[in-house]
Amino acid sequence: MLRASDFETAARDRLDPVHTDFIAGGARDEITVRANEEAFRRLRLVPRVLRGRPVRSLDVTLFGGRARMPLLLSPTAFHKLLDPQGEVATARAAAAAGAIMIVSMASTVAVGEVADAARAAAEDGAAPPLWFQLYLQPDRDITETLVRRAADAGCSALVVTVDSPVLGANERNRRNAFHDLPAGLRCENLVDLRDGESGHVRQIAMSAEFSWEHITWLRSITRLPVLLKGVLHPEDARLAVRHGVGGLLVSNHGGRQLDTVPATLEALPAIVEAVAGRIPVLLDGGIRRGTDAVKALALGARAVGVGRPVMWALAQGGEKGVRRLLELLREELSDAVALCGAAALDELTPDLVRPAWSGPL
Ligand code: FNR
Repeated sequence: MLRASDFETAARDRLDPVHTDFIAGGARDEITVRANEEAFRRLRLVPRVLRGRPVRSLDVTLFGGRARMPLLLSPTAFHKLLDPQGEVATARAAAAAGAIMIVSMASTVAVGEVADAARAAAEDGAAPPLWFQLYLQPDRDITETLVRRAADAGCSALVVTVDSPVLGANERNRRNAFHDLPAGLRCENLVDLRDGESGHVRQIAMSAEFSWEHITWLRSITRLPVLLKGVLHPEDARLAVRHGVGGLLVSNHGGRQLDTVPATLEALPAIVEAVAGRIPVLLDGGIRRGTDAVKALALGARAVGVGRPVMWALAQGGEKGVRRLLELLREELSDAVALCGAAALDELTPDLVRPAWSGPL
């Protein structure tokens, strides 16, 4: 395995094609799925030279927690579909790499157990932060229980996914009639939330009723910082700051919600401008190489998330696969930072990035 895409190739050989479709797929024509990756290819890096600056550190501090690289594991559902240890394997690999993991509300291992695994695997005893991804639920008691479970597990931030008033239509899943986990697997965070229903994915309610008031309410029931995942419009970024949100994850859900929205890299500059440094801005969608990460960081993201690559790596090689993926991405990132002539992440600035030349001037 030499690069992120190798894991996908290997995983496709092993996986049930229905699960391959679940991972790879997106909404409708998958225009945004492709756009995310293409946007990185359309940008060029313009390095500085002779700056006498070896790379000092790739560390990043977010909400008081330190990570050894600015690469997050974005929240993705159902890891036990891909490896018997599921999110335990992913968390161990993330902890060993010093990377922040965002545990999906739809994980197949309970968040408390994921956190225990991360702590046990952290090499220097200090586990990197673990965050919890939440879909607000119409029943406030259920949301409160989920928040309590995440806080009790030691999660240090809540990432509320706000791009899903309804579930995006993935036509591959429809064709494959993939709506459910196989027997024996459950969404463990949803167990015992309500009588008679236990861990079924259908328990995750999507609702278009949510508004900024619900974010204010959520902030009132927890001391954890609340981030919003899925903001693409700069006006929403301004509203988020006004509502005391702790950070933004610029995301289009990997092209799985509304098709034809912009690539996240295209959306980033306007969000960074709207936020004006008041809260950290993160990005996910289409990150496959260290150079992709550097481009997003140069344009103002404090860290970037990866979704599908982690799932392919987990399917290919379990914990070891994810470890190897994170090692490779770290190496690529470090290389790219050095080749740009920067010593640390805050030296990655917008002047290092420009659009690809599109023809004679
Ligand atoms: C996701 N994503 C996601 N997001 C979320 O907030 N909660 C979730 O449970 C999931 N589940 C999920 C499953 C699968 C199979 C995929 C591919 C994605 C979206 C994810 O967090 C992230 O935004 C994208 O995956 C990032 O894009 P890339 O890195 O996959 O291109």
